Amino acid sequence: MGKFHIMDHPLIQHKLSIIRNKNTGTNEFREVVNEISNLMAFEVTRDMPLKDVDIETPMGTAHAKELAGKKVAIVPILRAGIGMVDGILHLLPSARVGHIGMFRDEDTLEPHEYFCKLPSDISDREVLVVDPMLATGGSAIMAIDALKKRGAKNIKFVCLVSAPEGVKALEEAHPDIDIYAAALDDKLENGYIVPGLGDAGDRLFGTK
Ligand code: PRP
Ligand code: URA
Repeated sequence: MGKFHIMDHPLIQHKLSIIRNKNTGTNEFREVVNEISNLMAFEVTRDMPLKDVDIETPMGTAHAKELAGKKVAIVPILRAGIGMVDGILHLLPSARVGHIGMFRDEDTLEPHEYFCKLPSDISDREVLVVDPMLATGGSAIMAIDALKKRGAKNIKFVCLVSAPEGVKALEEAHPDIDIYAAALDDKLENGYIVPGLGDAGDRLFGTK
């Protein structure tokens, strides 16, 4: 059974308050989303396997550790997930990036897939699916369905703000994955997370 992790590091919580503020403009919003994603990646990769290595230091041999070479793919859900990619890549520069395009029908809130391009060895990689918002959970569930259909086995979902409804739906649909969020908010209202931060895609890209 996957776990639900809240990233309660003070820097993450402080930066989250900046992007929640309705007076924060596009530039700063984009920058801070990247900073939070970078900090979250630090925690999300905490269980990465290490192997023993001997390193010659100027003073002798250190019995040390290095990453065991597990390959990672970052998969943003378009559009808003794109805002989280650079911050994670900064920490994991050799990760590959796949893309899944999803949009929610504004009336029914049903997600629709319109694009999917993944690294060809996706089944060998640890996959970090990223999207700032987990609202009803429909987009995340469909994106993870699409990834599993194409062979992905080892998946984590990373978001900034989650709603209880979305966490429950995602846990029920994909009980094997871990969910990482910076916040669990109160509720959904007309498909939007309250208090949330508004429409993440519009705030990142300055559309409205
Ligand atoms: C937003 C957000 C998620 C989705 C979450 O995307 O970025 O992908 O809604 O909602 P859900 O959990 O109810 O599915 P949106 O459909 O607005 O598209 P965009 O990223 O292109 O703005
Ligand atoms: N998508 C967003 O961008 N914001 C929400 O509050 C819910 C879904």
